[in-house]
Parts: sequence; C-alpha cells; structure tokens
Amino acid sequence: MKSRFYRPLSLACISPTYFPDIALFVRNSGNYILYKNHDRKFTEADQHRLARTNTQFLYVRSGDMDVVTEYLEQNLDTLLARDDIDSGAKGTILYQTAANYVTDVFDEPGKTADIIRCRNLIRHLMKYVAGHEDALKALQAITSQNYYIFTHSVQVAALMMLVHDRLFNLNQDEMTDVGVGSLLHDVGLVFLSGNLLDTPEALTAIEYHKVKQHAQKGYEHLSAAGTLGEVSLTIVRHHHEKYDGSGYPAGLKGDDIPRSAQLAALCDTYCAMTTNRPKHTALPGKEALRIMEDEVGSSFSPEMFERFAAVVERKGKARKLSLIPSHTAAP
Ligand SMILES: [Fe+2]
Ligand SMILES: [Fe+2]
Repeated sequence: MKSRFYRPLSLACISPTYFPDIALFVRNSGNYILYKNHDRKFTEADQHRLARTNTQFLYVRSGDMDVVTEYLEQNLDTLLARDDIDSGAKGTILYQTAANYVTDVFDEPGKTADIIRCRNLIRHLMKYVAGHEDALKALQAITSQNYYIFTHSVQVAALMMLVHDRLFNLNQDEMTDVGVGSLLHDVGLVFLSGNLLDTPEALTAIEYHKVKQHAQKGYEHLSAAGTLGEVSLTIVRHHHEKYDGSGYPAGLKGDDIPRSAQLAALCDTYCAMTTNRPKHTALPGKEALRIMEDEVGSSFSPEMFERFAAVVERKGKARKLSLIPSHTAAP
C-alpha cells in the first residue's frame, strides 16, 4: 500500500550538513512543488528562509523515506542531545520518527518483526515524556498532518507512557512493553481495508466501531510474530473493552479488563477527542474529560478515570501515587 506518494517531514528534522541528499517539496494549495533537488545540499540559509515563512513541514517522496527514516533513527541520540535544538523541536523529531515507523509497519506489516527498532524508539519516547513537563505539546505539530492513524498511534503511545510514568513504578522493560503495545494498538486496521487508512475518516471509523475486528486481528498478527511481550499484546487486543462489558473483542467486564487496557481505552478516547478530525474540531482537554466523565461506569472504571484525569489535568505535573505499590499493580 504505497499510495501515499509524499510524506510530511517537520522542518526540525531537517538538519543542514547531516541531512541526506534527497529532493524536498513544499505543499501549496494541495500541490507539491519542488523546493530543492537531490543534488543540492539543504543549507542553513534554507532553514532560516523556511522558518521565516512559518513553514513547518517539507515533503519527501515516499520512495526516499527509507533514507530519511534511517537517517533519523541513526541520528536520534545525537539530535536529541544537541543544545541548539529546543525541547519542542526535539519532541517533533521524536514523534515524527515514531510516526514514520508506524507508517512503515502499516505499509509492510511484516516489519512488526523488527521489534528492536520499535523498542529503541519507545525508549527515546519514554525518556522524553518523563523528562519534559510539556512533552505532549510537540505532538500538536505532527497531528496537524493528514495521516491520522499514524500520528494517532504516536499520540496514544506518548500519553500512555506519560500516564504510566506518573501513576506507577514500572521498570524500564514494563514501560517499553506499554509503549510498544500502544504504538501498535491499531495495527490490525491494516488487514481490514486497503483504502481506509488513506482517508481522513480512518479515525472516525474506528470510533464508530465500524471496524471492530481490528483489535483481535492486530493481536493475532502480533502474537504470531512472537516478538511482543504479554502487556503489549494485551493493549492491542483489549483497548476497546468497556467497563460494563459491552466492548470488544472479548466483552470483558470491570476489573477483568487488564489495567493497561483500561488506560489504553482512556488514552485512545482522549487523544481522538482532542485532535482535529473530519467533521470534528479538537476539543480542549478539559471539555474532553467532562464528556468522558459521562461514560464513567459504562465505558470507564471510576477509579481509573479519576487517576487518568488527575495526570492529564495537571499536564504532567502529577506525581506518582504512592497508594499504588508496583508489586500489586498488574499491568
Ligand atoms: Fe483501536
Ligand atoms: Fe486508537
């Protein structure tokens, strides 16, 4: 499914001198116009010029994306350690790289086997969301793009890690499993409809449960790959269960729904509501929480909702709740 011919790349990711020699495009009224050819270097002058005109994204041909992804993943440590890149831009680079990974996985589901790549990204993401108070702010830049399902996956992963970091004392491996499962939670969609993912309606369709099998299909695919941990698989399979048992695929009820899956449902809903989608303007976080509160008891556990809301409302300033010792907290 290589129909997405151009892929967006945030300007923050394009570092003069290091960036590979590929053609870059700008988008103007829906058309892609060549900005520079592959035989010309991207310079600091380019960077300043584009920043001056408020250009946030350049576009690359999808055929060149492998080179870009390799560049970003190989240079992630260096890029994230550089002093001349601010925290917001670092977040954008990281989220963009994660979104590229998810796009790759949807293009070639066999790549889910490349779990090392995924774990490496999650470790970076984890460090970023744990260390930056405004970690979710940089997500706004990448979610402004059209490929909802990929950026949505990154959003859910970042929020899940933030919530788990603030609420529980998980070790690094457990946190990685939470991140991997969250990043791949909707991967089953790829088996359901070839063109769904190319439409902006993708997220709306999931929301209205037109594509109910995606949770089970994703689980089956990933468990067959044999590289994902139990917690990751649980998130993929059970993120649409509801507290009153009316969810899918297993119709689990109450606290039979594993904790990580309950939080995934909360993060999934919250991310969808606070993002611009077709026929749906992003709601402010407070408003989304208020609407979600009406579903406490039906969709969400009262206790989980309260803990989730405490983290989200304090915008990452919440501290770990000592009343949840990690040894009793089954993920
Ligand atoms: Fe889903
Ligand atoms: Fe989702």
